[in-house]
Amino acid sequence: MLEVREVTRLFGQKAAVNRISFEVTGPAFVGIIGRSGAGKSTFLRMMNRLTDASAGEILVEGRNILALKGAASRAWQSQCAMIFQQFNLVPRMDVASNVLHGILNRRSTMQTLFSLWSRADILKALEILDRLGIAEQAPKRAEALSGGQQQRVAIARALMQDPKIILADEPIASLDPMNAQIVMDTLKKINVEDGRMVIANLHTLDTARRYCDRVIGMRDGEVVFDGTADELTTSVAREIYGADDSFNEAATSTSIPADAKADDPAWSQPAYAAAMVS
Ligand SMILES: Nc1ncnc2c1ncn2[C@@H]1O[C@H](COP(=O)(O)OP(=O)(O)OP(=O)(O)O)[C@@H](O)[C@H]1O
Ligand SMILES: [Mg+2]
Repeated sequence: MLEVREVTRLFGQKAAVNRISFEVTGPAFVGIIGRSGAGKSTFLRMMNRLTDASAGEILVEGRNILALKGAASRAWQSQCAMIFQQFNLVPRMDVASNVLHGILNRRSTMQTLFSLWSRADILKALEILDRLGIAEQAPKRAEALSGGQQQRVAIARALMQDPKIILADEPIASLDPMNAQIVMDTLKKINVEDGRMVIANLHTLDTARRYCDRVIGMRDGEVVFDGTADELTTSVAREIYGADDSFNEAATSTSIPADAKADDPAWSQPAYAAAMVS
């Protein structure tokens, strides 16, 4: 259960996020949409305590995570892993080590200094990579992988933390449509199979409609839409994006051509198809 209550973030006089409130019950897949500067990233950064809120509360199972300090705040950060548009991997490091870095904060300085990982941790990292269809990439340098594979490594690193919530800030904005779909399918799979809440800032309407149980529309720091994917009609979208009658949905689309084929083996795995929503 997530309750966002009147959360505000000011930068000087300007409210990047202005008294937003919403509630999410159960492990939903939540999409946040809105034009550039609407406050989407600022909200995720407050959830993850990367930035402080100016006012309001975010209750997770009744506990105000905005009030946590020190070790408690760091513990919360490991329970809500963050995924970024640019993957944020260590490019020259191998994939398995990148995934193991998901649990760096649980380790002593000596363990970290000498890259000492327990056998159980290494097995766990490999299992997660296998689950995401990229086990064979484990020994390669992260920079040698495609963008879609790198984003799955970032998701694997997040899963290593065993988070309750996954926050994804435009996770597919740097990917071509095929890889975008693989990454979204992966997030959906984790949401459905593990019951982890996913909150993703998305820049395309079709992705929000296809994957999200719930869509929050933000404009100028405020929530201007809160509903299901079905309720996200063209006229609602026009309102969220503040566009006039010339608003064209195609401009916010990542649709994949019907005849497209992936050369990625994960694409054809039945588990991915099963986890997809239409
Ligand atoms: N550190 C900062 N200092 C000052 N202003 C900021 C800071 N971070 C964000 N802002 C401002 O807050 C507003 C919301 O920014 P935010 O990055 O949350 O938007 P966004 O919805 O994620 O946009 P985008 O789609 O471009 O990523 C913007 O006007 C931005 O300029
Ligand atoms: Mg942003």
